[in-house]
Amino acid sequence: MISLSCVLLFLFFTYEKCDGKSHPKPSCGYPPSQWCRTLEIAVECGVQKQCMELDATRPDPSVAPVEVTVYYESLCPGCRSFLTEQLFPTWTMLKDIMTVHLVPYGNAEEIPGQNSFLCQHGEPGCKANVFEACILNVTGQAAFPVIYCMASSSDVINAALPCLQLNAPSVEWEAIQSCVIGGLGHSLMHENGVKTRSLKPAHKYVPWVTFNGVYKDDWEDKAMSSLFNLVCMLYEGIKPPVCTGALMKLNRSFC
Ligand SMILES: *[C@@H]1O[C@H](CO)[C@@H](O)[C@H](O)[C@H]1NC(C)=O
Ligand SMILES: *[C@@H]1O[C@H](CO)[C@@H](O)[C@H](O)[C@H]1NC(C)=O
Repeated sequence: MISLSCVLLFLFFTYEKCDGKSHPKPSCGYPPSQWCRTLEIAVECGVQKQCMELDATRPDPSVAPVEVTVYYESLCPGCRSFLTEQLFPTWTMLKDIMTVHLVPYGNAEEIPGQNSFLCQHGEPGCKANVFEACILNVTGQAAFPVIYCMASSSDVINAALPCLQLNAPSVEWEAIQSCVIGGLGHSLMHENGVKTRSLKPAHKYVPWVTFNGVYKDDWEDKAMSSLFNLVCMLYEGIKPPVCTGALMKLNRSFC
């Protein structure tokens, strides 16, 4: 939706700059965000060709999105930079063709019979993981901007409250807190541990990223340097304009 409005906004500005006899009607009585809503409006605004091009590049609902699963630890620096520099920017642009699952756990270990965990980054590491697991569980899809905000803060754990208030204001902080200290947090960590231990091949480091449930060294390398290109490449449907640079073509062909 964002990219669509960008194109339309962009077309709008392009219109303003075009001159000569190809100049369309200055106003068709609809704001650019509405131009492709119906065929009638598109015709009235003289943009039916552009709207059809956009329509043809919308993700085909019968093609499965690329499923990206990230096994990570909330405090590991490499994980934080992957989340902030690759995953979230890519997800922002490609969320129509990808789904993201975050599994905070990584190299933690469950201490048998003791109801607790040992984390690579010690007690704060465990705490940060369980906070993020709880935010993911309680907040649903709105959790991604919250986790992004935490991962890019200097203090991941203390950022949880302000990041939640900023990005998911309808979620009660108490719900997160009671998850973190109660049984839910513990069982979420246990589930994440089970998922992480059942990886085949077993993870060797974090972040460990699978695509449609499959791990490949080559994909892992590409994910670290250009996740965006990799997701575009792995998507089996017609590539969205943002993947192919069609937005630029649209721009150039317009006048
Ligand atoms: C939250 O965790 C519970 C218990 O594991 C699970 O049943 C539920 O589906 C989870 N919700 C989400 C949004 O992941
Ligand atoms: C569109 O074209 C103009 C001039 O031709 C250029 O300055 C601008 O960067 C282009 N925008 C995009 C999104 O390609």
